[in-house]
Parts: sequence; C-alpha cells; structure tokens
Amino acid sequence: METRRLGLTDIELTPIGLGCMQFTGGRSVAKYIVRDIGQDTVTTVVSTALDGGINWFDTAEMYGRGRSEQMLATALRGCGIAPGEVTVATKWPPLGRTAGDIGRSIGSRLRHLGGHPIGLYQIHMASGSLSSIPAQLRAMAKLHRDGKIRNVGVSNFSARQLELAHRVLADEGVTLAANQVRINLLHRHVERDGVLDTARRLGVTLIAYSPLEGGILTGRFHDDPTRARDLPPMRRVFGHGWLTAKGLARTAPLLAAMREMGRAHGVSRAQVALNWLITHYGDTVVAIPGASKPAQAAEAAGAMAFELDKADRDRLDELSRPLT
Ligand SMILES: NC(=O)c1ccc[n+]([C@@H]2O[C@H](COP(=O)([O-])OP(=O)(O)OC[C@H]3O[C@@H](n4cnc5c(N)ncnc54)[C@H](OP(=O)(O)O)[C@@H]3O)[C@@H](O)[C@H]2O)c1
Repeated sequence: METRRLGLTDIELTPIGLGCMQFTGGRSVAKYIVRDIGQDTVTTVVSTALDGGINWFDTAEMYGRGRSEQMLATALRGCGIAPGEVTVATKWPPLGRTAGDIGRSIGSRLRHLGGHPIGLYQIHMASGSLSSIPAQLRAMAKLHRDGKIRNVGVSNFSARQLELAHRVLADEGVTLAANQVRINLLHRHVERDGVLDTARRLGVTLIAYSPLEGGILTGRFHDDPTRARDLPPMRRVFGHGWLTAKGLARTAPLLAAMREMGRAHGVSRAQVALNWLITHYGDTVVAIPGASKPAQAAEAAGAMAFELDKADRDRLDELSRPLT
C-alpha cells in the first residue's frame, strides 16, 4: 500500500504506524492501562513493525513520563535505525501546565528520543492547560521556527478547535499537520462531529488512535469473555464500554462478518478492522494500533498487505453504523 503525506508536509507515512502507549516501563498512571512488557519485548515489537514495512511511531511524554520515548529510542538503536530514517511523533501533555512549559520541556523530549528528530509534536488534548489554546500553539510554532520540531499536530481537538489551531498556526506561518483522534469501526464520531470534514478541507491528517477499540475488534473477548479478567484495571473497568455481556452481544454480528471476511483473505479480524480504517476514509486517515507482542505488530503491518473488496467494506459499514 502506498505511503500517505502527513498533512501538507513533506513527510510520507505508511498508512499504519505503531502506537507506543504499550511501552511504559510500568511507570505512572499508564500502568493501570497497559502492562510493563520490558525493553527486550519492546525491541522485538519495534523490529517486527519495521520488518513489516511500518515507517513511523507514535509516543508521548505521558506514556510512562517519558519512558515510552526512551524505550522506543533504545529499540530503534537496537534495530540499527539511524535518526531521521523513520518518523517519530510524540506529544506534550497540557494537564496543569502553562504554554511556557512547551519550550521548557522540549529538551527532555529530545534527550529521551536519543537523537531521533521529532517529526510531529502534538498537543495531547485540548483541555487541561493553564494557558489558552492559541498560546499553546504559538509556543509550538516557536519550537518549529527554532528547528526543535519538524511539524505541529494536535490530539483530541473538536472541529471548532481544529479550525482555531489551524488559524493560529497559519498566522505564525506554520501548517497544522495532524489531529490524533479515536476512530474505529465502533467509534465513527468523526463522521458526524465535523472533524473529518474539517480535516479534509484544511488538509490535516487524522491519526486514528485505539483503531482496534482497545482489542475488542480483534474478537478475542467475543471468543472468550473471561479474557477480560486479565486486562489491567482501567481497561477492564472501562473496556471502551463493550466488555459487558450486552456490549459483546451487540457487536457479535459485526465480529462474525469480520471473521468470515478474514477467512476469505487469510487474515485476522484485527487486520480486517485496520484495513477498513485505512481504506474507508481515503488518504485522510492513518492508524496507530498498539502492540504488546511481536505477533500483534506483525498483524498490524500485515493489514497494509491485502485489500478488502467493496462488497466487504459496504457490509462492514452497514453493520458498524448502528453501533457507533
Ligand atoms: N492521543 C490520545 O489521546 C491517545 C489515546 C489512546 C491511545 N493513543 C495511541 O494509540 C495507540 C493505540 O491505541 P490503544 O492501545 O488504546 O488501542 P488499540 O490499538 O485499539 O488496542 C491495542 C491493544 O489491542 C490488543 N491487540 C493489538 N493487536 C492485536 C492482535 N492482532 N490480536 C489480538 N490483540 C491485539 C493488545 O492488547 P494486549 O496488550 O492486552 O494484548 C493491544 O495492547 C496507543 O499505543 C497510543 O499511541 C492515543
């Protein structure tokens, strides 16, 4: 599958990148969402993703207070990847911080990334900062002008906030490259809340996070609901809302159709979900599945290597629309 341009920038991304929230070293609040998988596994996951053709990685300061960035950099070094050979995206957490922190904390981001340039620096969420959104974006634009980051992005921004971010950056002579939001077969809100239309109009890439709805779209909890007991507490309790008997029953027809299509193409349900996501919205959307095991990273990359036919995509559309 061909690469896609990140917004209007000169960066080419594979339609699938690797989400790195799964790398936390068991630190901070992330440990209630994902288990610590250790550096050796992280390196194998990254190396499997690279072998499968994935050319970019999404991390964040919030994932283990910088530990995910460090583990990713260590893994890339272990795989012989030189700075600049792949794109690394990371995020600034606004919670309880002023815009001034953007300039103050960039040094630790760059240090943690061990020389890998920041291809995309995103404001992790629209709320929680002690400064206004325009002040945060002006601080981001300054980092760009100072050559500390290559491109600016946002995450969890509404259509209105996206317009505002785009305008403020344009006044600073900087392009808004991406908005990272949750999109998957069970969460298609971007189609009705204006985010998709706005992104298309402004030439902003949408980076789909939780593309497997936290694992629900792999069908593993439909096959054996007791597997939910092994999840870290926050994923077990919230489970994106689908881990109840009712949630699993409602989504069962979709998962059954995905299994059938997967069998016809020799792929898994996870790969059907990812392939739908990177084809349904055209070039506007790229996806960042998380992987805690090498086999999951291989499946993620493999989702770029086949094509669902139109009849399959229409059926998925029809079955998922009432659920989202
Ligand atoms: N910007 C934001 O606010 C935000 C929020 C959330 C996530 N993100 C980003 O998006 C990335 C992905 O989101 P996510 O981790 O929430 O959800 P996800 O990608 O939908 O689900 C990832 C989980 O699904 C399971 N999985 C993945 N591939 C599988 C396969 N082939 N077979 C069976 N199970 C599989 C794994 O669970 P186990 O580990 O339990 O095996 C994995 O940890 C994160 O890594 C992060 O970079 C961003």
